[in-house]
Formats: sequence, C-alpha cells, structure tokens
Amino acid sequence: MTGADRLGRPLRSLRVSVTDHCNLRCRYCMPEEHYVWLPRSSILSFEEIARLAGLFTECGVTKVRLTGGEPLLRHDLVKLVAMLAAGPRLDDLALTTNGLLLADQATDLRRAGLHRVTVSLDTLRPERMQAFARSNRHADVIRGIRAARDAGLGPVKLNSVVIRGFNDDELEDLLEFARAEGCEVRFIEYMDVGGANSWRMEDVVTRREMLERLALRRGPIEAVPGGDPSAPAERFRLGDGTRFGIIASTSEPFCRTCDRGRLTADGHFLLCLYADSGLDLLTRLREGASDAELRQQIESAWRERRDRGAEERAAVAERGALYSISALRADPRKEMHTRGG
Ligand code: GTP
Ligand code: 5AD
Ligand code: SF4
Repeated sequence: MTGADRLGRPLRSLRVSVTDHCNLRCRYCMPEEHYVWLPRSSILSFEEIARLAGLFTECGVTKVRLTGGEPLLRHDLVKLVAMLAAGPRLDDLALTTNGLLLADQATDLRRAGLHRVTVSLDTLRPERMQAFARSNRHADVIRGIRAARDAGLGPVKLNSVVIRGFNDDELEDLLEFARAEGCEVRFIEYMDVGGANSWRMEDVVTRREMLERLALRRGPIEAVPGGDPSAPAERFRLGDGTRFGIIASTSEPFCRTCDRGRLTADGHFLLCLYADSGLDLLTRLREGASDAELRQQIESAWRERRDRGAEERAAVAERGALYSISALRADPRKEMHTRGG
C-alpha cells in the first residue's frame, strides 16, 4: 500500500481515460473544430490498462472509473470491463459517459462486471444540446440513462455542468427529471480546466448561487450528512425529499481530501486534474519494466505529491482560461478529454 502524499492524502481512486476521442463537442470541454489526437500507437491496450490497474490496486486503489473522451467509443470496452472485474477486487468500478452509445451497451457492461455509470446531461432541451454540443441525439442520451438504470447500473448519477446563460434556468427541471427517473443529479460548477478555453468567471454559477436560487423556489435545503468525505459532490435534500449533489470545484475546491490519480489514454500518470504533466508509465512499461519497478515509480510519485491545482487556481486574482489554444495543441495531454473528465 502506498503511503500518503505530502499533504497526507492516500491514493484510493484512479480515473482512466480510455480514449481521447469523443462523439460530442461540449463547449466546456471540446469547443474547437480541430484537435491534435494522441498517436494511435501510444494508446494503452486493454492488457496494458489491466496490468497498470492491477498495480494501482496493490498501491491502495479501491475505486476505478473509466472515462475519456467518450469511453464507449473504445471498441469492445466491455472486454476491458470484464478484465478489470476479474482482476484484484475493486469496491467500485464505474464509468462516466455522455450516454450516446449507452442504451446498446448497458446490459453487456453490467454482465461484464461494471458497477455503475454516471451520465453527462447538461440540458433537457434537444435544441440546446444541438447548439451546445453539436449533436441532435438528445433522445439517445435519455434512452441510455433509462437502459443503464434498468440494467442495474445504478445508482445512476447525472452530471450537469451549469453555465450562466446556457442551462442555469434548468436546475429545477433537471432535478425533477432525475427524481422521476430514479437518478441523482449533480450540478457541477464550470471549471477552467484544459479545453475550456473560453472560460470566464462570469459564466460560473457557484454552489452558493445555485443553493440560493433553488431555496427561493423550493424552500429550505438541508445538507445530507455522511457520505464519502473524499467525494467531490456535496449532497443536499429539498423539503420534499428530492436529493441532489453539487460539485463546487471552482468556488470551493476540495483538494485537501483528493485521493485521485489519473491515467491518460496514453499511459501518463497524473497527480492532479490541473497537473502540467505526469509520469510516463507507457514508455517504462513498453521498455519492459517489471511490476515491482512500475509499482515503485507509482508509489514514489504519489509520496512526493503536493498538488492542489483547483485551490491554486482559486487563488488567482484575474482568473481566465487556464491554457491558450496553442498550448493545448502543443500538448494534447493538457486537454480534459485526454486526461479524463
Ligand atoms: P462518484 O464516485 O460517483 O462520487 O464520482 P465522481 O463525482 O468522483 O466522478 P465524476 O466522473 O462524476 O466527476 C464529476 C465531476 O467532478 C467531474 O466532471 C469534474 O468536474 C469533477 N471532478 C472529478 N474529479 C475531479 C478532480 O480530481 N478534481 C477536481 N477539481 N474536480 C474533479
Ligand atoms: N467544467 C466542469 N466539468 C467539466 N467536465 C468536462 N469539462 C468540464 C468543465 N470545463 C466534466 C463534465 C462531464 C465530465 C466528463 O467532465 O462533468 O460530465
Ligand atoms: Fe485533486 Fe487536483 Fe482536483 Fe484538487 S484540483 S481535487 S488536487 S485533482
């Protein structure tokens, strides 16, 4: 088991980006027309992911989340899920998806051993999705959510990134939809991560503002006690029992309890969502490093970890986009879709 990092945080959770490709173009993540993709030959194979995930488990990881890009675009993802489920025991094996391809795969994913899914759902209005994510497939997302729930991939969580002037008038509709579908919605503050190159503080609707606006219309809101202290979402309950979460990464970062490592689609181990670069495990692995050597590298990287990227960003006075387009093109690993949203 890996020791704690320099700020006393254990390594418990791993987010694995399985592809940098996506079939949506959400404005907060992939606003550009053209992208520099990772070379195909450098994308981790399933065997490589499973081997690394096994080593991370030996280092203390108990939760693995598959992300992308859009993870369901990765051919035969079900096979990877089965390999991970057959490996060392995980308390939690989850997937974050935009839902477009979920309806067709939900049952197979469940059978392969996936525990649960989180689906991005920023709007209930198809025309908004068209404008915002350049897709007319809103109905497929809704079908995907229902199929996942019916396949037993629950509790299904819905992620809504709240952006002023885009969907901040839909908080209640999203709450009602989630309640009616037996899901839990989490409102996420718009973050200035790589990829969000037109991010502006004015467009962020903070946790505080969301709670004030909801309380005005729905009455007192209670915090739900308990829960995992290292989870990004804080949970709340309306008077009628409806539950929801808020992820306040921008206005009230939670770096102090962050137990997450990330693996990019090309095998770089990042210690923080905001990290400039990471440990190149791919090269070491392909050069023939032994399990013991790889594990030792993971452990020593984690022990030296001091990252608290979101807190540091929160301290920046004139806060704007984190990276310019040219910086992102020069290093696509800085993109959110490469490092795992
Ligand atoms: P649960 O295990 O269900 O609690 O999932 P989760 O909330 O950890 O994962 P999910 O993929 O649903 O992440 C939701 C959102 O939280 C992301 O889209 C990010 O906006 C934010 N987030 C996730 N991980 C991190 C992180 O390491 N740092 C920061 N600052 N934000 C994160
Ligand atoms: N701000 C907040 N969340 C983001 N995501 C991607 N980009 C951003 C951003 N700029 C998150 C969304 C999505 C997940 C894949 O990544 O929550 O659901
Ligand atoms: Fe963890 Fe970095 Fe996110 Fe803070 S910004 S919560 S340290 S990944």
